[in-house]
Amino acid sequence: MRVLVIGSGGREHTLVWKIAQSPLVERIFCAPGNGGIQELAECLNISPSDIAALAGFAEKEKIDLTVVGPEPPLAEGITDEFIRRGLRIFGPTRAAAQIEASKVFAKGAMVKYGIPTADFIVFDDAQRALRHIRRRPTPMVVKADGLAAGKGVIVCRARDDADEAVRRIMVEKEFGASGDKVIIEDCLVGEEASLLAFTDGETVLPMDSAQDHKPVFDNDEGPNTGGMGAYSPAPVVTPEVYRRINNEILTPMIRGLAAEGIEYKGVLYAGLMIDDDGPKILEFNARFGDPETQALLPRLENDLVEVMDAVIDGRLSEIELKWSTKAAVCVVMASGGYPGPYEKGKTISGLDSVDDNSVVVFHAGTKRLDDGRIVTDGGRVLGVTGLSDTIGQAIERTYAAAEKIHFDGAHYRKDIGAKALRPEKWNR
Ligand code: AMP
Ligand code: GLY
Repeated sequence: MRVLVIGSGGREHTLVWKIAQSPLVERIFCAPGNGGIQELAECLNISPSDIAALAGFAEKEKIDLTVVGPEPPLAEGITDEFIRRGLRIFGPTRAAAQIEASKVFAKGAMVKYGIPTADFIVFDDAQRALRHIRRRPTPMVVKADGLAAGKGVIVCRARDDADEAVRRIMVEKEFGASGDKVIIEDCLVGEEASLLAFTDGETVLPMDSAQDHKPVFDNDEGPNTGGMGAYSPAPVVTPEVYRRINNEILTPMIRGLAAEGIEYKGVLYAGLMIDDDGPKILEFNARFGDPETQALLPRLENDLVEVMDAVIDGRLSEIELKWSTKAAVCVVMASGGYPGPYEKGKTISGLDSVDDNSVVVFHAGTKRLDDGRIVTDGGRVLGVTGLSDTIGQAIERTYAAAEKIHFDGAHYRKDIGAKALRPEKWNR
């Protein structure tokens, strides 16, 4: 098979790495890829948003399977266009991807299908939103309706913060038309986790659990990022919580959409808040998570291409997922200044000194220069994933490897996985 992967981050390097292990695959392309992906796939100078060029390439090169990493092409209808041209693609259609592309659509669906989530109100008028903020209790969460590269959600402790959030989103239009509407919702408390599921529109097959670390600094301090690390499995998702997420959240969502004529095929990502009452949904995503994928796929023992084929063909009921009993921890190494402004082009050294075969270094914002040097080329630069029998041992392994890698300004959290080391919290 000839496979095309779309995207350039750590998630996409992990997808390419896993797909390359499939005996079904003879050649992999990636648009546009990065310095690490280049070792495993032929990188193409095509932007993930250029749907016509991607479809043209897939036709010309007789691509058997295209896998979409990031959300913008899904929201723009890449899947619809590929299907129209008779091309096989893994990822939901534009109608189905609305669960991520429009938070108003997603919240409406949650209410209709009885899926537990925070109470909320939608506003399409800034003055009304500001008046509501004055009346309602704090804290609250202000969310831009549309895609905002993970920056459109602002958790506000004080009314002033919420005022400012509404102004930035609706008046200054920091995220463009994504801010035509806002949601103001109750702030949930508990511990966050992610549960991703493969689905062919009928069968819902959850993966193992994972936990992201969004804030930039240790102890969840500082501004949110795309994700500074992840681990899998997440002990907060006990077998009982896992069942509830599947029965109360993932399956009702897929069934509800199907009943409205929207067939959802691909990965459905549930971002959850878990407390003593059980799981509630914070948000759905229409794709693999980044960096959850870097902690999940190294634990998946199935051939990923077989699973994706089963999703596309509506045969997912035939698949049983098998997970390694090992735990995985992924630590993201970021550029100095990230998530604010940062410089690119810093030489990365020490990649070859990682000689532990239970550690994989996934590239995100990296570039290989003609002289062979690998340099930084983005905010999140590398995801170092280590596997071991316990989360504690995986943490040690991963950090031992990360310490060998250097670039000017590099920073990473030192407490990835620490939440998993408090099992007393979850023995209830
Ligand atoms: P998102 O980009 O939609 O994943 O949201 C980013 C982060 O905002 C989530 O991971 C949570 O930490 C936080 N968040 C979103 N909604 C809520 C909520 N209702 N209550 C508390 N935190 C929230
Ligand atoms: N890890 C968060 C996301 O992929 O949206």
